[in-house]
Amino acid sequence: MDEFAVARAVHVVAVVVWIGGVSFVTTVLLPAIGREVEPGLRVSLFERVEARFAWQARVTTLIAGVSGLWLTVRWQLWSRFVDAGFWWMHAMVAVWALFTLMLFVLEPIFLHRWFSQRALRDPEGTFTLVRMLHRVLLAVSLVTVAAATLGAHGGLS
Ligand code: HEM
Repeated sequence: MDEFAVARAVHVVAVVVWIGGVSFVTTVLLPAIGREVEPGLRVSLFERVEARFAWQARVTTLIAGVSGLWLTVRWQLWSRFVDAGFWWMHAMVAVWALFTLMLFVLEPIFLHRWFSQRALRDPEGTFTLVRMLHRVLLAVSLVTVAAATLGAHGGLS
C-alpha cells in the first residue's frame, strides 16, 4: 500500500477524533452543563468530565502533528510556507501549535488553576468565558479543516 496514502489517512483520522471531540464538547456538553447544573458547580464538573477528553486530544494532536510533519518532509513541501497561496498550510500549523500550547503547557501548569480560582469569584462569568473560548477554537479548527481539504485537492487555486 502507498505509504503516503496511509500517512494521509492517519492524519485525517487523528484530526476527526480530535476536532470531533472539540465539537462535541462545544455544542453538546457545555450547553447541557449550562442548562442542567447550577452556576457554582458548572466549571468544576466541566473540568472533571473534560479531563478524560484532554488525554484523547493530547494523543490525537501528537499523531496529527507527526503525520503532518512526515508528509511535509517526504513531499518536500517547505516552499509552501513562503507562498501566501498556501495559507491553509500555515493555518494547520497554527491550529496545531495553539492546541499543543494549551494542552501540554498552559492547561497543566496554569490554566486549570486559573479557571478554578476565577470560578470561585465569578462562576457565571467563568463558565461563559469557557464556552466562548471553545466556540472560537472550534470555529478556527473547522475553517482550517475545510480550507486544508479544499487546498489539498486543488480547490483553492
Ligand atoms: C504540524 C501540524 C500539521 C502539519 C505539518 C500538517 C501537514 C499536512 C500536509 C502536508 C497535508 C497534505 C497536503 C496535500 O495533500 O497537499 C495535510 C492535509 C490535511 N491536514 Fe494537516 N497538518 C498539520 C495539522 C493539521 C491540523 C491541526 C488540521 C485540522 C485542524 C489538519 C487538517 C488537514 C486536512 C483536513 C488535510 C486534507 C486531507 C485530504 O483531504 O487529503 N492538519 N496536512
